[in-house]
Amino acid sequence: MVELDTNTPVPRHVAIIMDGNGRWAEERHRPRLFGHKAGVDSVREIVETAREIGVEVLTLYAFSTENWNRPSGEVSGLMGLLKSYLQSELRTMVRNDIRLLCLGQQDRLPADVRAILQQTIDDTRECRSMTLNLALSYGGRSELVLAFQEIAKECQEGVLDWRTLSETTISDHLFTAGQPDPDLLIRTGGEHRLSNFLLWQASYAELYFTETRWPDFKKAQFLEAINIFNHRQRRFGKVGAQLIREGRGATDGE
Ligand code: IPE
Ligand code: IPE
Ligand code: MG
Repeated sequence: MVELDTNTPVPRHVAIIMDGNGRWAEERHRPRLFGHKAGVDSVREIVETAREIGVEVLTLYAFSTENWNRPSGEVSGLMGLLKSYLQSELRTMVRNDIRLLCLGQQDRLPADVRAILQQTIDDTRECRSMTLNLALSYGGRSELVLAFQEIAKECQEGVLDWRTLSETTISDHLFTAGQPDPDLLIRTGGEHRLSNFLLWQASYAELYFTETRWPDFKKAQFLEAINIFNHRQRRFGKVGAQLIREGRGATDGE
């Protein structure tokens, strides 16, 4: 059984590209939706584990802006699963003190999904032990476009002054405003790309790629990823000797 290294800090923010459901199903000669259904069990287990070990923010990439281009049957199947996941998890989230947020263009989601999503967001608003960001209809580039539009508007209205725009101004206008950047970004399913995920926020995240398909990614695989993360040295542009002098051998990005 994989145990978490107890003498190292847990990453504050873990972001996951949950990929490989379709291939997992195809490898079993089953329809793709069967893989998405199995993936929901992994979502439950990873949310529970993240909360248990003290992750502050967990971001799950559930549906990208590009995923709207999939066959309509798969899109509606995914929306149905999302709706039933939210309906079944609301009470567990409240009990476990997990706040739900949505990153993405909520207005593109079907009305029934939007309604349950908004209810879950409202009902978990006061929860503080962990934030669960569901990236839904999310694209990193469109998030940046929205942020720049808002910043331009605020400059025009005199709320902001273009001379004082900074990296913080941009971070503050993203869906993740107020949250720490991801420390660890995991992608399951064997692909080695970001697929438009958290382009701004992940600039210094540690990347972890695994062949494991998302439905097979469970507590043990998650803890293993965190243990590997904890053995990396995050240098943030410095040299290793500087970090040792500062008393930061590995992964402490503060
Ligand atoms: C990820 O699994 C889930 C979503 C993108 C919604 P995929 O459906 O992309 O699975 P593969 O990559 O085809 O195996
Ligand atoms: C990325 O997976 C999006 C999600 C996991 C929600 P995709 O399967 O859509 O990414 P590509 O098409 O392989 O880049
Ligand atoms: Mg995929």
